[in-house]
Amino acid sequence: MENQAKPTIMIDYTGMMSNYQNPKGFKEEELLGLQNALDQAQVSLLTRRDAGELDFSKLLVHMKTELSEIIEYANSITPKFENFVVLGIGGSALGPLAVHQALNHYYYNELSPAERGHRPRFYVVDNIDPVRVNELLQMLEPSKTLFNVISKSGNTSETMAQFLIVRDTLRRVCGDSYAEHIVVTTDKEKGNLLPIALKEGYKRFVIPAGIGGRFSELTPVGLLAAAICGVDINQLLEGALVMDQQIRAAKGVSSNPAQLRAALALLSWQKGKNISVFMPYADGLKTMADWYAQLWAESLGKGYDRQGRAVHIGQTPVKALGVTDQHSQVQLYAEGPDDKVITFVAVQKFKESQEIPIDLELPEDIQFLGGRTLEELLFAEQKATEYALTLAGRQHQKIILPALDAYHVGQLLLLLEWETAYMGELLDINAFDQPGVEEGKNGTYALMGRQGYEARKRDIEEYGETRYVFGEEVS
Ligand code: PA5
Repeated sequence: MENQAKPTIMIDYTGMMSNYQNPKGFKEEELLGLQNALDQAQVSLLTRRDAGELDFSKLLVHMKTELSEIIEYANSITPKFENFVVLGIGGSALGPLAVHQALNHYYYNELSPAERGHRPRFYVVDNIDPVRVNELLQMLEPSKTLFNVISKSGNTSETMAQFLIVRDTLRRVCGDSYAEHIVVTTDKEKGNLLPIALKEGYKRFVIPAGIGGRFSELTPVGLLAAAICGVDINQLLEGALVMDQQIRAAKGVSSNPAQLRAALALLSWQKGKNISVFMPYADGLKTMADWYAQLWAESLGKGYDRQGRAVHIGQTPVKALGVTDQHSQVQLYAEGPDDKVITFVAVQKFKESQEIPIDLELPEDIQFLGGRTLEELLFAEQKATEYALTLAGRQHQKIILPALDAYHVGQLLLLLEWETAYMGELLDINAFDQPGVEEGKNGTYALMGRQGYEARKRDIEEYGETRYVFGEEVS
């Protein structure tokens, strides 16, 4: 009940619609003309959900029952470790990073232990750059570190390689107690990580079977890291549930925010906007743009529709940050090719305010800033950018979060996941697979000599024989 009174996320899509400054925008009839397709998409999505798919929505209620175990474990390890490191990639890394940055102190790792509530520092290693991995292990004391290996498949080469390096280091440094430094988040029944975890006695959390990595933030994939770093995961889930219920129940673009966002995305795609820019005006949401880019790209960038016809479809997501990228990319958005649609994400009320000092001695051209706040300046710049884009005939919309707190971040995650699912339906593609990624994973297994991939290895080597290279290779 308490949460029903909480303000919800708003979407201001004035900048997408036709108006006196931008007559090229969409007409209301165009939006309403999609309603039949949206109704059908809703029936199809809810039917699939009832049949056991769409676990990102279906499992929310179940996850509520798992929260106590996650919180209990998080509290039990908090005083024991100085560092908490996630080893994972893609959907197993971007969500934990996005939620952490959105909700914790911006300089969380630099705070003193007392300022962090004696919670561990937080790192996500989502790459296999040897310098980075080495330097991290040199910098952290392994004996004071807990590593969370996250892999749904339990097979991903990058994560498994990181895991093997870390396990080896821990064995050398911690001896018999090394297993206490590893917690694994993986499938309940499948994958290569599971038997190792069982044999060596690691603490284990389960990624539910039907959920894809990029949709898994509100499972132990993201909830564990969030709880360990002090995020109120109850509120995170609560916000997600409220948004989920609204999206499942509401019909029509005026009451269903996922339908609205998907309809706007479809119209823009049909009108040649091949690029979707996601531009939050809050540093805390910078990595949310990374998470969203993966969600949009991997879910909707597809070669074939559900009938097997070649379609080669999908908007290219671009990550930007306001106001920083006003001084980097907005020139292109305003005057370059008209192939982009821009989503700003604004936070209505920042948790801190910062006043700009008044100094009457200064030249008048700077004095106007004195006595105003940084957030006023940021809001003004965002509004001014909207205005400039409208004048340039460019379309944009704005997702408005009342506050950057756990409840509204939960809402945002669900909104973006549902809009992606809707867009998949409207484009008649499978938004939940990633065959293009799997191909690369298999190629890596082949080149690294995994058994069973010999034919593919020969294929890749043959393909690599004819080469056009400028410059000499360093041997
Ligand atoms: O969204 C996805 O499914 C992918 O990005 C995966 O999360 C990523 O490839 C890592 O896979 P896994 O969690 O199986 O190691």
